[in-house]
Amino acid sequence: MTFELTEEQLAVKQAAREFAQNELLAGVIERDNTQTFPAEQVKKMGELGFMGMMVDPKYGGGGMDTVSYVLAMEEISKIDSSASVCMSVNNSLVCWGLETYGTEEQKQKYLTRLAKGEIIGAFCLSEPEAGSDATSQRTTAVDMGDYYLLNGTKNWITNGKSASVYLVVAQTNPEKKHKGINCLIVERGMEGFVVGKKEDKLGIRGSDTHSLMFTDVKVPKENRIGDDGFGFTFAMSTLNGGRIGIGAQALGIAAGAYELAVKYSKERKAFGQEIYKHQGIAFKLAEMATKIEAARLMCLKAAYLKDKHEDFTLQASMAKLFASQVAMEVTVEAVQVHGGYGYVKEFHVERLMRDAKITQIYEGTSEIQKMVIARAITKD
Ligand code: CAA
Repeated sequence: MTFELTEEQLAVKQAAREFAQNELLAGVIERDNTQTFPAEQVKKMGELGFMGMMVDPKYGGGGMDTVSYVLAMEEISKIDSSASVCMSVNNSLVCWGLETYGTEEQKQKYLTRLAKGEIIGAFCLSEPEAGSDATSQRTTAVDMGDYYLLNGTKNWITNGKSASVYLVVAQTNPEKKHKGINCLIVERGMEGFVVGKKEDKLGIRGSDTHSLMFTDVKVPKENRIGDDGFGFTFAMSTLNGGRIGIGAQALGIAAGAYELAVKYSKERKAFGQEIYKHQGIAFKLAEMATKIEAARLMCLKAAYLKDKHEDFTLQASMAKLFASQVAMEVTVEAVQVHGGYGYVKEFHVERLMRDAKITQIYEGTSEIQKMVIARAITKD
């Protein structure tokens, strides 16, 4: 057993850190204020290889491991989680799903461009009345022979407007329940597909989260992923990996807030000395650092198991559950360390606190993670 990162992994971490500092930091407050999607920055992320990190180079990806992905997600999320959620969805839901379960034609047509970040993907599972209870899909994909007729609404879709390719989960055979669900590749611009309203959110305000409407959209049969009825299993197994990405995002939010709190505590003086010398602040920093280290180890372990092609469902859910909890706790404390300055936008920690909350909600709420964990640990 080793805790050492390879030279390549360290280089990826450093590249992500430099990118975040040099390209994301300057405009992040403005983008949060104006709810502006970091389009230019995401394009650069594609050029640097961050949008298809784990994809085989023969499909345009970086051929990296999941550990490297966690390291990059942490660094980018320290600065801008609106950029990192775009990266996470593209990497671990869309690219991974297509590479693992797509046909060669689907990979050539979509994955090669998605992996290079030339286009962005979205993963469309949640609906107005089917969030946690994901088997209750109301969106329908009726089998019409050569194509599916897609009707329904999807909610809270990350990359909703900026994506070009959408993996849409829909019910084809309701009597078969979850075994009647399919996942279809829908292209932006297909007739009957409309991008709906943009959500005005508490955090990750630069991320474009939209509802999507499908009215009699004709989706060719060749755009179905896997066999008929594979859609729910596809969504679940894809989300297992997604949860490592969101765990790493939560870790990055916590670590970013912690780094700012340490820096501030060395600059700010009260009662005649820097505030980190007061036990009240020193103990806060010690607790933050300990929780972050535990969250990091959990994310890396889940990634390590995935890279070894072992079952990582339990570890991914544990990592996301714990890291998102840590993100909330640490960001609240980071605001507290900053005092009044923590409550204003200029010091970044209030934004990190707002961004942290979503990590307990998307890609499976904390309650869903507990269900997954409880089922796994009590399985005979
Ligand atoms: N991995 C692989 N397969 C899984 C799985 C997992 N983690 N969880 C369930 N399955 C499989 C089961 O094995 C079962 O298959 P079989 O019948 O073939 O055995 C099937 O899925 C149904 O499972 P359950 O009977 O356990 O279904 P359930 O309804 O009791 O519970 C659930 C399933 C775990 C609660 C699931 O509905 C779930 O994960 N819900 C949360 C959905 C979610 O994470 N949404 C996030 C939206 S995407 C998003 O946020 C992206 C973004 O834009 C940021």
